[in-house]
Amino acid sequence: MEHAKPAEDRNVLIAPSVMCADLLDLGRDIDALVDLGVDWLHLDIMDAHYVPNLTLGTDLCRQLGGRYALPLDMHLMVDDPDQWGPLFAGIAAGATGGGYVTIHPETTWHPARTLAAIRDAGGRPGIAIDPAADVDRFRHLLALCDLVLVMSVNPGYAGQRLLPWTLDTVRDAARLRGDRGLDYRIEIDGNVSWQNIPAMIDAGADVLVAGTSSLFDPTLARDQAAAKMRLAVGR
Ligand code: DX5
Ligand code: ZN
Repeated sequence: MEHAKPAEDRNVLIAPSVMCADLLDLGRDIDALVDLGVDWLHLDIMDAHYVPNLTLGTDLCRQLGGRYALPLDMHLMVDDPDQWGPLFAGIAAGATGGGYVTIHPETTWHPARTLAAIRDAGGRPGIAIDPAADVDRFRHLLALCDLVLVMSVNPGYAGQRLLPWTLDTVRDAARLRGDRGLDYRIEIDGNVSWQNIPAMIDAGADVLVAGTSSLFDPTLARDQAAAKMRLAVGR
């Protein structure tokens, strides 16, 4: 089985899942996270069609991009990425720290065209691999991506349990990156817990979407959780 280099030899990034933050005091919560050294802001955009949930929107992303220098990591769980992809790419282009726009490739007839449109509109394109999907199936898209997001839970809700076979999907994404001489980052999204983080990093994840089972762990103060997170990624 392939093992990635240990965390301390890599720059594994922390991307808090903003939908898990204190939405009633979001600015304060994100200010604290920025001070605590997180790297990206993971923004779950859901349209209540592709997934049975409705979360963050365009105005919030625009305001976050105007206030914070961190890259916006916009995860589009939407039925129409051809409409929303370029729009969120425009938000990324206007954001201080730029941003990624990640689509689920099954949601459009021609994902290669959608990814090109995202890049043309100023976003860094990515694909999200559903737990039921296989990254090899989308191997021809990988050269168009700056990010491959591996869903380790079914898309749509925080607080779910890791689907263990998705660690192999992370390994597959790392293998294909090496075989093809590509340099996209590999992100894992869902139940990034204290228990699961070591295996996720060992499988090859470069970016951890930190939600309710780590950074927003209700049993820890934010600074304690952030310190535990930095330790987990070898900083
Ligand atoms: C689920 C979202 C995840 C989720 C992570 O569709 O993409 O970002 O918020 O939350 P936890 O860590 O609770 O799984
Ligand atoms: Zn997500």
